[in-house]
Amino acid sequence: MTNEQYYDCIQPYQNACQMMRTRLEVLNKNLYDVAPSPPIHNIQQRIKSKKSIEKKLAKLGKDDSVQSMKDYLQDIAGIRVICYFIDDIYNMVNALKRQTELIFIREKDYIQNPKPNGYRSFHVIIAVPVYYLDAMEYFPVEIQFRTMTMDLWASMEHRVCYKKTPEHRESLAEAFQQYAKILGKIEEQFESYNETGVLEEIDS
Ligand code: GTP
Ligand code: MG
Repeated sequence: MTNEQYYDCIQPYQNACQMMRTRLEVLNKNLYDVAPSPPIHNIQQRIKSKKSIEKKLAKLGKDDSVQSMKDYLQDIAGIRVICYFIDDIYNMVNALKRQTELIFIREKDYIQNPKPNGYRSFHVIIAVPVYYLDAMEYFPVEIQFRTMTMDLWASMEHRVCYKKTPEHRESLAEAFQQYAKILGKIEEQFESYNETGVLEEIDS
């Protein structure tokens, strides 16, 4: 993939990402209208670099063409939504599910089912329609919903464990499982301050 091909092909992913972010910001305001406080603490977004795209395609045993990227990668556009409480996450996801233009491709609930290493987060991959002058095409956006506590663990784990050798990783794994337990306890305490609950009856 040349630099030029990369910049051309990520453009619609960038558009999809921007539109998805706007939807999230609008929902944040709408949910605030029916609850005592807004659900979102902050939003981050990123487009996968050319280098990471090539690395991931190589790992999958695919060539690094634009077609392979479109066919095999669903996380070119990524958004991370940091919420205050766990119910906020489910309220956001449920509200997005009522938006009929969006197609939910995949959903992974690592909050109900944490990964063995302690990772928790709610992942969805949503196909977002991008309109051209005379056509429309769906592009996938990966959204990771986390509370601040989940994000603290995941950001540190990524930072500390990512580039380590396997031996180092093994000794760190135990420490991070321990941190996950401690943070889980802190989160349980924080959860007692939540006054919103799960909003089931909202029409959007
Ligand atoms: P990827 O090939 O990494 O995209 O995995 P996947 O297709 O099985 O998707 P999954 O939804 O499990 O994970 C996607 C993303 O979630 C990763 O790229 C990370 O950003 C994040 N993630 C998943 N597991 C972990 C973890 O154990 N630690 C951290 N820090 N992040 C994780
Ligand atoms: Mg990924």
